[in-house]
Amino acid sequence: MSAVFDFPKWMSAHLNHIEQHLIQWVPLNAPAQLGESMRYAALDGGKRLRPLLVMATFESIPSKDSWREQAAMRAACAVELIHAYSLVHDDMPCMDNDVLRRGKPTVHVQFGEADALLAGDALQALAFELLTPIQSSIPDQLQAQLCRVLSRAAGYAGMAGGQAIDLASVGQSLNAEQLQEMHRLKTGALLLSSVQMGALCADIDDEAAHHLQNFGQAVGLVFQIVDDILDVTTDSSVLGKTAGKDAQNDKPTYVSLWGLAGAQQQARQLREQAHESLEKSKLSHTLALNALADMVIQRIK
Ligand code: IPE
Ligand code: IPE
Ligand code: MG
Ligand code: MG
Ligand code: MG
Repeated sequence: MSAVFDFPKWMSAHLNHIEQHLIQWVPLNAPAQLGESMRYAALDGGKRLRPLLVMATFESIPSKDSWREQAAMRAACAVELIHAYSLVHDDMPCMDNDVLRRGKPTVHVQFGEADALLAGDALQALAFELLTPIQSSIPDQLQAQLCRVLSRAAGYAGMAGGQAIDLASVGQSLNAEQLQEMHRLKTGALLLSSVQMGALCADIDDEAAHHLQNFGQAVGLVFQIVDDILDVTTDSSVLGKTAGKDAQNDKPTYVSLWGLAGAQQQARQLREQAHESLEKSKLSHTLALNALADMVIQRIK
């Protein structure tokens, strides 16, 4: 019998590890205010869900090689940097025009719009630099695969594409399919890429990877549905960002389309799908992934 899985302990150990690497990798010595604004955006805050998903997926089979673990930690931090950059730009006046993020003034409020734009640009570039270290035992092929997955998830077929739909949809009422597509791209893609990169680093077989793909899709979509729900149910002080912004900005959301109870019902269904996919994967160590899926829907911020 294996010992009982202690998720809080697992999470705090991994959060610590991820934080240490981000502190090491996000530079202090960039010109002018750039280093300061990059660190302001990326360090000291955030749930780090995407990096945790990379690591939990990576650990879903026992892995021995230390270069594989190094690649997973690089992928974990890289996806968090892309996420942090997406938040900096999402908050800018030309997008959602938000002044509060992770309990602090947003980057453009703190440093000005031009520096916020550059901090986002530089965080994005740094993500790919992390994936392609010069001196490392991580094979070039794996480095290239990770870059391919992350760049696709960040770009027109992923986050940036979803954000374009989001901006083009202000004041519109999207149908169920259109709304799901927007959420799948703007938020789901990076979460799915976290699972995909964890699977690549662990060299998980195609059959299990297929079920992990379904798991990642369900978690990715449910994450944004819960974000829409929290925007109407939770205070800014708890969220660390301004509540009620979706209605204020006239954005179509799962709550505006389905109502609160309808959105919650869909979130519960997707959680079930996520758990079922993990079961079908027959992977040996899925307790952390299961717990992360639960956390995505039970979270209060
Ligand atoms: C917020 O993401 C933006 C969305 C994609 C919905 P998170 O809720 O993961 O934000 P942090 O990283 O914890 O601040
Ligand atoms: C953001 O969606 C998705 C991103 C790609 C950053 P939201 O605009 O709903 O995220 P929040 O609520 O500002 O965190
Ligand atoms: Mg937005
Ligand atoms: Mg926003
Ligand atoms: Mg939101």
